[in-house]
Amino acid sequence: MEFKKGYFITFEGADGCGKTTQIELLDKFLKEKGLKTLLTLEPGATDLGKNLRQILLHYEKPVSDEAEMFMYLADRAQHAQMIIKPALEDKKIVLCDRYTDSTVAYQGYGREGDIEQINILNKIATKGLKSDLTILFDVESEIAQSRLGKTKDRLESQGMEFHKKVRKGYLELAKQDPKRIKVVDANRTIDEVWQDVKKIVEELLGL
Ligand code: TYD
Repeated sequence: MEFKKGYFITFEGADGCGKTTQIELLDKFLKEKGLKTLLTLEPGATDLGKNLRQILLHYEKPVSDEAEMFMYLADRAQHAQMIIKPALEDKKIVLCDRYTDSTVAYQGYGREGDIEQINILNKIATKGLKSDLTILFDVESEIAQSRLGKTKDRLESQGMEFHKKVRKGYLELAKQDPKRIKVVDANRTIDEVWQDVKKIVEELLGL
């Protein structure tokens, strides 16, 4: 089966929300239906992005908030233009683990950056390419922390307060844009969460 157009679905949520497990389940489900998908992620889908990801997650010296933000945006610009757009033109269903909302939630709400400015920068980086659907995996910060392993990366080591700010930011975004952003209660088991994800996507694609 092939659609007349591509679909762009993004997966969002604070660290430990379990979205990566769900995106893989969805990719498998759609492929089994014979649909063309592209499973991708930010940061680090392109060659340039892999270099940025290494710095973003593992650089040990202090990084200014602005430098951090511009690296996520540079990764996104390269990703949107080199990978996502061509896949959509090829009528694929693009499943992307994190996109523009991550920068608003983490660098905006989490680091207290200027959200209006971030919106403009996101628009520049993506040339205005928006997702058709965003699934937000909402998880209590305490549960999320218990899911994260002992080896945490730079962002994961920010602690509970930061996690709470990011979570709140995401919920605020969902409230502002309920048509695009669907919130899933990610405090439950993998299968319970998956049933919701499946339903939301089946509705979008008319399956
Ligand atoms: P990753 O290991 O991919 O985490 P996850 O599996 O939870 O997505 O690391 C991505 C980290 O980068 C994550 O902590 C969120 C953060 N991030 C931002 O702060 N801003 C952004 O714009 C993006 C895309 C990610």
